[in-house]
Amino acid sequence: NNVPVVTIDGPGGSGKGTLARLLAHELGWHLLDSGALYRLTALAAVNHGVSLEDEESLKVLAAHLDVQFLAGCDDSSKGGIVLEGEHVENTIRTEEVGAWASKIATLPEVRRALLSRQRAFAEMPGLVADGRDMGTVVFDDANIKFYLTASTEERARRRFEQLQAQGVDVSLDRLLADIKARDDQDSNRAVAPLKPADDAIIIDSTKLTIQEVLDKVLDTMRRNA
Ligand code: C5P
Repeated sequence: NNVPVVTIDGPGGSGKGTLARLLAHELGWHLLDSGALYRLTALAAVNHGVSLEDEESLKVLAAHLDVQFLAGCDDSSKGGIVLEGEHVENTIRTEEVGAWASKIATLPEVRRALLSRQRAFAEMPGLVADGRDMGTVVFDDANIKFYLTASTEERARRRFEQLQAQGVDVSLDRLLADIKARDDQDSNRAVAPLKPADDAIIIDSTKLTIQEVLDKVLDTMRRNA
């Protein structure tokens, strides 16, 4: 099919989630938050007492996830995510669920089960896909690929501010350690590790505001059109 796809990959806290949402809104395109699918699969597993190492059962769970992205999944922050009838938007965003997601994301059968689900998001007029392997695996023929990074310290700081604003009490050191552990697991796994696609445009957002990153991306897209 000829649906235009823009991929945005990168580590957690790089700002790619926010960027993907703003870009999808700006273009009037669909949005795929692929990390949410890994988080939802992990949460469903824990809810059902399935071990995070039981690849066979996790594969079945991933393939049959009963999930709704309210508000047409274009802006989950508005409508939220419903898993098996329960609102789980806040639950899945915790570091704890992130760590579970990263664990099951190392399993090839789980990744395979989520593949067609992710590709189904590519619908007219276009898709902005946010994740770790959007440009390298899931949409390897995407029209334009971005890889967003930022220093580990800056990513921890952003996450810290986000959590503080939500009234969640965490230590910066603890966050830094969590982020490093997750980066390590995501970058060193055998299947679809976190890395820029060969043809990805790399943006370091450490010293940029989200608006500056968005402008850069839109500018690049205009020049490539
Ligand atoms: O992006 P987010 O932090 O929500 O992703 C949670 C975890 O899901 C990541 O740490 C990663 O292990 C996994 N993931 C992945 N491939 C993607 C998106 C997320 O392996 N495309």
